[in-house]
Amino acid sequence: MTTVPPPSATVPVLQARGVFRFRTVDGKQHPVVRDVSFGLRPAEFVAVMGPSGSGKSTLLHMLAGLDKPSAGQILLNGDDLAAGDEEHRAAIRRKRIGFIFQFFNLLPDLTVLENVTLPLRILGDNPRRHQARIDSLLQLLGVQGLKDRLPQALSGGEMQRVSIARALSTQPPLVLADEPTGNLSSKAGEEVIALLRQVVTRLSATILLVTHNPRDAAAADRVLFLHDGALRANAELTGGPFRVADVFSRLQELGI
Ligand SMILES: Nc1ncnc2c1ncn2[C@@H]1O[C@H](COP(=O)(O)OP(=O)(O)OP(=O)(O)O)[C@@H](O)[C@H]1O
Ligand SMILES: [Mg+2]
Repeated sequence: MTTVPPPSATVPVLQARGVFRFRTVDGKQHPVVRDVSFGLRPAEFVAVMGPSGSGKSTLLHMLAGLDKPSAGQILLNGDDLAAGDEEHRAAIRRKRIGFIFQFFNLLPDLTVLENVTLPLRILGDNPRRHQARIDSLLQLLGVQGLKDRLPQALSGGEMQRVSIARALSTQPPLVLADEPTGNLSSKAGEEVIALLRQVVTRLSATILLVTHNPRDAAAADRVLFLHDGALRANAELTGGPFRVADVFSRLQELGI
């Protein structure tokens, strides 16, 4: 007997096909992202690891529709991100992608609750209609008691937990995180990564994390390795979460 998976499990949330990005360095065209192909399944937590300068942020910007590939295709729920104009891409970003940044990017004059619900208001939605869900999101992230504070009155770890709530406020099919622990203490970083894991498990969010931190990558279901702009073939780790030591030894095997 064959089991037929539910339709949502068959369409990748995100698909990169042969993606290149050239940059002009010293007057010459140089590929900083080279022939990158991979897919993300719904409710999957995937980490892309690579050293500084390997192209992680460049790749992430293209996946977010903030930059266009020089060649190749990026499909979000089957739709080509490069199709249409900037306004079209912006609309896709607002509806379908949540962002978590290294430097939080909270608006300083808005309270925690206003920051978290801002993406809903930008979509023209009334945050009050989502109050129960937003409350449980704040609860899950342990920031429900901070609703009325301004970002300046938060610790780094609290700011990042608020940004995770903001990224999830519109229930986007995809969440992209660029070095979300890069600006945190080791303990606060560990908490943030544990929360991202919970968000995947409890809310079935799909997260792509780029990081050079093996501890962060170890929390993922799958780890891809980027080196000089290319994914290392047959190097990915599957079946996570992993022990940090397993991520370290794969990095050593790969010489990166
Ligand atoms: N605007 C640009 N113009 C030219 N080269 C660039 C530009 N942005 C990035 N690069 C180059 O592209 C390569 C990849 O950069 P990228 O920022 O994607 O790396 P990264 O893996 O995110 O590094 P880090 O871990 O330091 O954040 C680097 O060699 C970088 O110097
Ligand atoms: Mg970067």
